[in-house]
Amino acid sequence: MAKEKAIKELEDLPGIGETTAEKLRAAGVTGLEKVATMSEHDLSELSGISVEAAKKAIAAAIDATTLEYQTGAQVYERRQELGKISTGSKDLDEMIGGGVETNAITEAYGRFASGKSQLGFQLTVNAQLPKDKGGLDGAVMFIDTEGTFRPERIEAIAEAQGMDPKKTLENVIVIRATTTDQQILAAEKADKLIAEKNVKLIVVDSLTSLFRAEFVGRGALGERQGKLNQHIHRLQMLADKHNLAVYITNQVMDNPGIMFGDPTTPIGGHILAHAATTRLYMRKSKEDKRIVRLVDSPSMPEGESIIKITPTGIKD
Ligand SMILES: Nc1ncnc2c1ncn2[C@@H]1O[C@H](COP(=O)(O)OP(=O)(O)OP(=O)(O)O)[C@@H](O)[C@H]1O
Ligand SMILES: [Mg+2]
Repeated sequence: MAKEKAIKELEDLPGIGETTAEKLRAAGVTGLEKVATMSEHDLSELSGISVEAAKKAIAAAIDATTLEYQTGAQVYERRQELGKISTGSKDLDEMIGGGVETNAITEAYGRFASGKSQLGFQLTVNAQLPKDKGGLDGAVMFIDTEGTFRPERIEAIAEAQGMDPKKTLENVIVIRATTTDQQILAAEKADKLIAEKNVKLIVVDSLTSLFRAEFVGRGALGERQGKLNQHIHRLQMLADKHNLAVYITNQVMDNPGIMFGDPTTPIGGHILAHAATTRLYMRKSKEDKRIVRLVDSPSMPEGESIIKITPTGIKD
């Protein structure tokens, strides 16, 4: 068999020269995978090559891209390595399958004062506990987009569990983001810090508020969703790569379209709904009680549990 040159870049495709490749890149077709999923007419139109030539280029691109897979047994093995962080409430832990999982994004949404940030503080402390106490022996990266990170709460929650409050705070890397660019950059540049400090939990409180404030009006919706999408995928990538947990909070908006039931929907639309592995809906109940509803989980049934927000953290 004649050995052909390995196809690695756009230029290596038959019928596509340097100029055509540049043209494609400028149009957002940046790699072989993009070409592999295009129609011959789209490729022909974008590049200026004939439909026939486009057909050949696409076939070559499909040949050159590899399908990455794992066997079910490998996925199973990987899942045995997953870590779980206790929420402080046994009931809530059980409902979500043992705690907030690594390799995944857990989202809490709800109205103001529903306890989203408090749960974030509790997880920030608990992630630092030893593994047999419901933690992951790790550090925490806390991306604060609302200016509501409260070290006093970390201190109080840690102290109540017999932990050294000062050390606990030392183990939290707080990044205050005031623009979506800063927020996105925090995740983009987190790789090195995560490895250096053994970060096992990333909190983003909240994921959506800056996006909501910056991209106003219908016209900005596409850009907002695009950027949010990119940000979430980056967080998921970090979760997979470093076997860490990601906890994000999200506000709700009133949805006047719903006449029966609860007229609130989380911000972020379908992008977030699909990206978050586990979704929790938090509601205020009497006094310090909060109702946490498991809305979406890949392996646990829907359910509700009641937690308490106390001065020393989340309790049953
Ligand atoms: N030291 C404390 N002791 C007991 N309860 C507290 C303490 N600090 C805060 N809380 C309770 O936590 C609630 C606020 O919860 P939290 O800050 O988690 O809300 P949130 O869901 O993040 O709201 P938002 O959308 O405004 O950010 C308050 O209603 C208060 O009752
Ligand atoms: Mg909050």
